Amino acid sequence: MARHLITSALPYINGIKHLGNMVGSMLPADVYSRYLRQRGHDVLYICATDEHGTPAELAAKERGLPVAEFCAQAHDAQKAVYDGFELAFDHFGRSSSQENVEITQHFARKLNENGFIEERAIRQVYSPADGRFLPDRYVEGTCPHCGYDKARGDQCENCTRVLDPTDLLNPRSAISGSTELEVRETKHLFLLQSKLQHEVEAWVAAHEDQWPQLSSSIARKWLTEGLHDRAITRDLDWGVPVPADTWPELAAEGKVFYVWFDAPIEYLGSTKEWADQDPENRDWKSWWWEADDTVRYTEFMAKDNVPFHTVMFPATQLGVREPWKKVDVVKAFNWLTYYGGKFSTSQKRGVFTDQALEILPADYWRYFLIANAPESDDSSFTWEHFTATVNKDLADTLGNFVNRVLSFSKKRFGEEVPAGAEAGEAEVKLGEQIAGLLAEYETQMEALQFRKAAAALRALWSAGNSYLEEKAPWLEIKTDKDGAALTLRTAMNLIHLYAIVSEPFIPASSRAMRQAFELADDTAAWVSADEARALAFLPVGTPFTVPPVLFAKLTDDDLAAYKERFGGE
Ligand code: 2FM
Ligand code: ZN
Repeated sequence: MARHLITSALPYINGIKHLGNMVGSMLPADVYSRYLRQRGHDVLYICATDEHGTPAELAAKERGLPVAEFCAQAHDAQKAVYDGFELAFDHFGRSSSQENVEITQHFARKLNENGFIEERAIRQVYSPADGRFLPDRYVEGTCPHCGYDKARGDQCENCTRVLDPTDLLNPRSAISGSTELEVRETKHLFLLQSKLQHEVEAWVAAHEDQWPQLSSSIARKWLTEGLHDRAITRDLDWGVPVPADTWPELAAEGKVFYVWFDAPIEYLGSTKEWADQDPENRDWKSWWWEADDTVRYTEFMAKDNVPFHTVMFPATQLGVREPWKKVDVVKAFNWLTYYGGKFSTSQKRGVFTDQALEILPADYWRYFLIANAPESDDSSFTWEHFTATVNKDLADTLGNFVNRVLSFSKKRFGEEVPAGAEAGEAEVKLGEQIAGLLAEYETQMEALQFRKAAAALRALWSAGNSYLEEKAPWLEIKTDKDGAALTLRTAMNLIHLYAIVSEPFIPASSRAMRQAFELADDTAAWVSADEARALAFLPVGTPFTVPPVLFAKLTDDDLAAYKERFGGE
């Protein structure tokens, strides 16, 4: 048994996420956590909403709410969707928590003590009409590269170029629209990442062989470009305040830390939130402090987050000069596209997680998304692919198998697992095949190869279908009743096996499969290769019920309706 710390990139607070966001972070982290728990490991899966920064302030303004209130509501709304997806976080926290404020301020003080923070005067856009400095996204204007007239001070959405607010032509305040902007001098804290370049390089070199290629190549690219000193404070009303004991002047001016400074620290903050809910029994520091030998830490994220997790946050952690746990494996994902184009929260393009659950239960999405996760490349969501996959893999291969076996057995042998003949050649062959596929599934899951793990799971389901077709108990029963009973008993054992091994992917359907049998010892604990080979989990005579159809088949009309509602092509 090992201790596994798992985190998924913190979703921004400003709105319900789309499926692309889910498949690149929270969902695979949940699948992996569930698998490890079933295998008996001590798992802590931590996530939170990422609540600071200009997007949160702007979204609150748009809704006419104070930002704290907006965030509280938006957090609950996101949490409700994740509950609907059965994401089994140990804790889903908030980066605006007091815990995060304290740990972030502690990190900043330590970095300062160690000579990695410097106060610098910079020139920044000031809006007299608003009475404040305008950080990046608060300035809008015309992109100097492509002429797009709604470019933001940090980036042009049209040509994707990274900008500085002072680059914009005809700049205006995103708050008041005022065009009377000035450039004034103001002081900010800078994290001297350039001083940490060599240490980060050595750290990456020592760890990257455990990372997938996508993560290490991005880390390498950033290191080659060189680590630059970065401003880690902003002029915002909402954020972790700069601690007054260390920087009284900046604190008095109301400066807060930049969202990307406090967000990764919330992985620790959220763990402390978790512990603070039950301090007698939970020790957050045992997961983070001098934990390197006993804890294996895996992070999940989409590729745009990789630089922050492989280079910048490690630089912060190294500069603190305290033994905080650093990541062991950075599992990164490419993009899920919507018909080849970008899913976009701001442009409302694609399928949002709350809408997905309005249409179909979580298991349909969980399976489809993981089986098609954008692991080695971007992958495209289309309704055609989605409905075809659901029908073939879930409804036909798995659902139909379960229903067919249980209904037929009930009809011919009653509502208990039938006795019948001893296992013969076909069962021995099947057992070998199942044990081999199970080993493949485990190997892929442990390598964090989710598509391949899903393929192995699908192959396990298919093996049951092939066995059933080959033995054809509906014919067998006419000449060999004991043989037919053996076939059905074996198939029922497969159903129980499916209940267990499918759990990380489709937890609700797995429960339904497991609960079909009235077992004294109802556990989702993993199975060994020998148990899988023997296919004898269910004592003869175990009562069972036929569960309702596990997966509805999606029709052409369903497909047309989805495309009509969300757009396709
Ligand atoms: O890109 C994003 O969605 C960020 N909110 C991820 C933050 S991850 C972590 F570092 F907090
Ligand atoms: Zn542009």
